Amino acid sequence: MPAAGTPAPGRKRSVSEIRQRVLGSLVLLALATASADDSADCASFDLVGDGIPQPLGERVGNPDAGRQVAADRQRGDCSICHQLPLPHARFHGNVGPDLSAIGARLTPAQLRLRVAANRHLNPESVMPDYGLSRGRHDVATAFEDRPILTDQEIEDVVAWLSTLDGSGP
Ligand code: HEC
Repeated sequence: MPAAGTPAPGRKRSVSEIRQRVLGSLVLLALATASADDSADCASFDLVGDGIPQPLGERVGNPDAGRQVAADRQRGDCSICHQLPLPHARFHGNVGPDLSAIGARLTPAQLRLRVAANRHLNPESVMPDYGLSRGRHDVATAFEDRPILTDQEIEDVVAWLSTLDGSGP
């Protein structure tokens, strides 16, 4: 004799299994829809693997300009969190990884995704998405509707990072 509450064998059990599966699919569907909405931010980027192979806006990056963008407190300000070969930067942070030789480890495509939309890789990251304007509530009003960096500035930063091989400024 089955204990009270235990589903009887046969038809009854399969009905509740079906019900559970339908509920499960609904939950999965809801999750899938939610994450599709989140990643809509990256729709304008041509993602391949963990990189963006195409230069943004077909811009050609200039490493010297990129160095200035990275050092500029109003634009990149990257050294607040990263070790970088910028001898005059006020503070070299260690919140993020040391980038002094990042050009030897990541391709331009990988660098582009990390600078433009790092939260696509790590939604919890403290590093801002420099190329996205949506979904950013942690920034000054001036930045709310536009990305922190322009396509050109991102390409400049990527070009500069690509030159970094640990040999210094
Ligand atoms: C608020 C802190 C912060 C700022 C500002 C910041 N980053 Fe980051 N960055 C991080 C952290 C933390 C990581 C580690 C990965 C993660 O959290 O997703 C990271 C990872 C990276 C990576 C990947 C490194 C690796 O070893 O794979 C690159 C490249 C990068 N940042 C470049 C930049 C550039 C360029 C700037 C400026 C335009 C910048 N970051 C500004 C915090 C920051």
